[in-house]
Amino acid sequence: MKVLVTGGLGFIGSHTVVSLIENKYEVIIVDNLYNSKIDVLDRIEKITGVRPKFYKLDCSNSEEMDKLFSQEKIDSIINFAGYKAVGESVKKPLMYYENNLDICFALFKAMEKYNVKNFVFSSSATVYGLPDKVPLTEESPVKSATSPYGETKVMIERILKDMAFVHKDWNIAILRYFNPIGAHKSTLLGEDPNGIPNNLLPYINKVAVGELKELKVYGNDYPTPDGTGIRDYIHVVDLARGHVLALKKLETNPGLVVYNLGTGKGTSVLEVIKAYEKATGIKIPFEFAPRRDGDVPENYASTEKAEKELGFKCQYSVEDACLDGYNFQKAETERVKNLIHKTAKTL
Ligand code: UD1
Repeated sequence: MKVLVTGGLGFIGSHTVVSLIENKYEVIIVDNLYNSKIDVLDRIEKITGVRPKFYKLDCSNSEEMDKLFSQEKIDSIINFAGYKAVGESVKKPLMYYENNLDICFALFKAMEKYNVKNFVFSSSATVYGLPDKVPLTEESPVKSATSPYGETKVMIERILKDMAFVHKDWNIAILRYFNPIGAHKSTLLGEDPNGIPNNLLPYINKVAVGELKELKVYGNDYPTPDGTGIRDYIHVVDLARGHVLALKKLETNPGLVVYNLGTGKGTSVLEVIKAYEKATGIKIPFEFAPRRDGDVPENYASTEKAEKELGFKCQYSVEDACLDGYNFQKAETERVKNLIHKTAKTL
């Protein structure tokens, strides 16, 4: 079974590639390295002993995708490629709509032409907008998202429904991720965004290794027990396994299916800080700041459907994820330091 993983060198993509290889899938990665590093390919090989075939291509380019599909007989696609920075999307909506939609158009055209019938889409809990009630089930209403990034997810889900309507033999899994955190135990794969991180755990990691001074907790006046925002944090290795299970589900010809991938448990920002400190023994200084625009007070998943239909159950806790995330960040910071040292010596 040959699986094309677009954006396969990114944070969730790379962990999923490892999980696919461990489950004996043949993986082909396509990534334009916009937000990922080529080293990740070596690291995947180090972990799995397999070096997946890699194409440095832009998935939004239909001609390039056509050429790729004419060369490789692909059975299934998992699409991670796309821009994902919420704040940037507010400032550059056109860039987000164009790129994220074009990627899907190029892939759908290739699917039609080359008879590829299985597609897994990385969607987000952001499609639920401001929830009326939690936990969120797959039947909770999809609303207008709070950012152009989120809106691309809503739009692509809609387009997928239209594609499934005309292609009755296509199998599509829409996976709505909650908040992916953590890193691979090997410390070789993880999330290390350029610049100042927007998301909670990458920010805390940088505070923990001393690159940033203190965390700002956005809002302590939400209608939650401790006043801070509640999210469903899922370990990226659990999330990766969810993709393998979704792919196995598609092999049973279910048509279009939608699953939440979360833990089913809500954790507040203050609880995350506590879990991080307990797991790593490092104190995380923080101060309260005003609410961040577009944030919802609380969201977490109902996991019933994914558990029943996919057999998906998370193995890792928030504390496990905090420790793995920290260990990755520490190792990565060390690797970067060594590289700078080596480069300076050769100059
Ligand atoms: C955001 C996006 C989501 C995307 C996810 C992962 C929205 C509404 N959400 O989720 O679509 O899939 O990122 O990239 O578009 N926080 C702080 N201080 C910080 C950073 C965050 O207190 O420095 C708080 C936030 O207010 C929130 C929680 O931590 O309560 C989680 O924030 P974050 O990690 O950014 O994820 P989301 O906003 O939930």
